[in-house]
Amino acid sequence: MESALDYWQAKAALEWQVELGADEAICEAPVDRYELPDAQPVPKKPAPAPVAPPAPALVAGVFDPAEAAKQAAAAADSLETLQQALAGFEHCELKRGARNTVFADGNPAAQVMLIGEAPGRDEDIQGKPFVGRAGQLLDRMFDYIGMARNAPEAEKALYITNILPWRPPQNRDPKPEEIAMILPFIQRHIELADPKAIVLMGNISCQAMLGRRGITRLRGNWADVLGRPALAMFHPAYLLRNPQAKREAWADLLTLQARLRQL
Ligand code: URA
Repeated sequence: MESALDYWQAKAALEWQVELGADEAICEAPVDRYELPDAQPVPKKPAPAPVAPPAPALVAGVFDPAEAAKQAAAAADSLETLQQALAGFEHCELKRGARNTVFADGNPAAQVMLIGEAPGRDEDIQGKPFVGRAGQLLDRMFDYIGMARNAPEAEKALYITNILPWRPPQNRDPKPEEIAMILPFIQRHIELADPKAIVLMGNISCQAMLGRRGITRLRGNWADVLGRPALAMFHPAYLLRNPQAKREAWADLLTLQARLRQL
């Protein structure tokens, strides 16, 4: 029979895994990843050439993950190197629970860059933003105004990303400190993609880029993000829960279309 101690230890271990985002079983049988394989002879590798260590991300002598993010983002000189820098950034807890680093989708030459919140379950599995139900609605919405993520022409194309590249456990809201840490990456992402206009979808995106929440008041209005016009809109997941708000979303799409015609 199981002792009470085993039960509480097992419960705590399970809760810890759920907190990290392991909220579903992916194999038929459990795998003990702590079990060491039989010792194998390790092939000898040539010693790597010495490389200069990166400057330590220190603030007042203490390692600062936000400073590390700033340095890693600033060093990227293309979307490819930014993606690599993000995939190699190990200082955000969210990454440990995520299957994939979700960087972007669509045409990087697009005039319009859409910025959502964070990957959900489908995006975490596929490694692409907005591929679940909200993403399908997003595609239909932009199709109404003749725009699509895979359009080859920059004027009709969309480039899509999120504030956070890792799925938060159980899709909880990102914490302010997680947003603050990752902000240099999204700012650099905007600079490198260099869109003519930005669409901020939902409260988290507005909070991160404008420092303001209250999407019901913000939506339909233009703001400035890194010197570019940025339009706030309802998040498509909100529209799935509140279909009556699609009327405002439609008005916002027309506002975007009119602005793009002037660019
Ligand atoms: N919601 C988001 O904000 N982003 C996604 O990629 C998917 C759902």
